[in-house]
Amino acid sequence: MSLPSPFRIIAHRGASGYAPENTMAAFRAAMTMSVTEIETDVHFSRDRQLLLLHDDTLERTTNGKGRPGDFDLEELKSLDAGSWADPEKNADLAWTSDFAGESLITLDELFAEFGARLTYHVELKDPEYGVAEAVAESVGAAGLATQTFVTGFERSNDLLRARSALPGLRTTPLIPTSRDPGEAIATCADEGHDGVSIHIDAATTELVEIAHGAGLEIRCWGVRTRESMASGAACGINGMTINWPDWLQEWAATESSRA
Ligand code: G3P
Ligand code: CA
Repeated sequence: MSLPSPFRIIAHRGASGYAPENTMAAFRAAMTMSVTEIETDVHFSRDRQLLLLHDDTLERTTNGKGRPGDFDLEELKSLDAGSWADPEKNADLAWTSDFAGESLITLDELFAEFGARLTYHVELKDPEYGVAEAVAESVGAAGLATQTFVTGFERSNDLLRARSALPGLRTTPLIPTSRDPGEAIATCADEGHDGVSIHIDAATTELVEIAHGAGLEIRCWGVRTRESMASGAACGINGMTINWPDWLQEWAATESSRA
């Protein structure tokens, strides 16, 4: 099949199958793989800096304890975000070196490092009011509005407020598996979003047609296996977030050569 346009290969929390998620090492790994789009998650620190962290707490991916909002950025930067996993005991983690000492980073630092070389998908994780505006301010200061998407589960109003604060920014709600994807696509279109992201196992050609007919890009999240990646991608979606972007690069190259 010929690939839809756009077809976005998005390194999920960076190339997080190959380096610790949401650290500079994971985003550099994505760049090394010639990936041009990354996804990340944001939380406020106590001093209102935008920290890249997936979980609501520090325990799983750092040697810290508690919530990121309980600490100033300086304290959070002293944590080790690269020693939390043993890749030999986790088949999902093909880490290529020892990442001990890797630190947490901010959205501003991510933008300063990669600038216009990447397209960014920034997920609002922190439930606190104001995180949408803070993300818009950070994106605007970096001059990256037109190559940034803001995303989030059940955060439609926040996403739309971010876009109002920074014209050019695009919005892609993430749809939880508990919702009917057809209804969710219709709602996203009604609310004026730019795209929608559904679980990979929910993807069908019919939903892709409905989304495209409504003027929405449709992407997927939740990829865990090459098989689900391939069957979702074959539905004509506009891309996906994936911990192993090289899998999707290989799939896309094979499909393109067949077309
Ligand atoms: O691509 C979106 C995806 O990141 C949503 O799930 O849990 O990884 O934030 P999660
Ligand atoms: Ca995320």
